[in-house]
Amino acid sequence: MKSAIGVVLICVTALASVALASSVSWGYRNGTDILIYKENVIRFPLKNDYQSASVYFPESGHFNARTIAVVYIYDRFTNSSGAQPSLWAGGPGYRFASINLKSLYNKGINSTVEIYGKK
Ligand SMILES: *[C@@H]1O[C@H](CO)[C@@H](O)[C@H](O)[C@H]1NC(C)=O
Ligand SMILES: *[C@@H]1O[C@H](CO)[C@@H](O)[C@H](O)[C@H]1NC(C)=O
Ligand SMILES: *[C@@H]1O[C@H](CO)[C@@H](O)[C@H](O)[C@H]1NC(C)=O
Repeated sequence: MKSAIGVVLICVTALASVALASSVSWGYRNGTDILIYKENVIRFPLKNDYQSASVYFPESGHFNARTIAVVYIYDRFTNSSGAQPSLWAGGPGYRFASINLKSLYNKGINSTVEIYGKK
């Protein structure tokens, strides 16, 4: 009986962490921070495969003088099928960031990347 409850709890915890995994943030927001980048990343599902999208800030040919305070990734599917974000390089404390979004198997990507810089 006790072990059955334990298994249920583990399943609930696992589901919760999957649901939370697709919207993440790195760094901390200070009220004086300024939105310096925003992009909606949309990719259609690939049959029997994963989709992957990389976001590079600043975009090539652009220059960014502000130190990044926080990076937000919002999953717009909001149904636990969202892409898994990773910070590959840079981010808070740097003036650049490389972010990767990897979809779930057979799913697309609909995520928003927001980057705030220090004033
Ligand atoms: C927010 O940023 C301003 C300007 O850089 C700084 O003066 C202030 O101490 C910061 N506040 C917090 C709570 O970190
Ligand atoms: C992405 O998500 C937003 C918010 O749910 C929705 O309005 C938009 O139509 C979606 N776009 C695609 C291509 O699925
Ligand atoms: C979540 O929404 C997306 C876009 O509408 C869809 O492709 C996906 O199959 C949905 N996932 C679930 C578990 O319903």
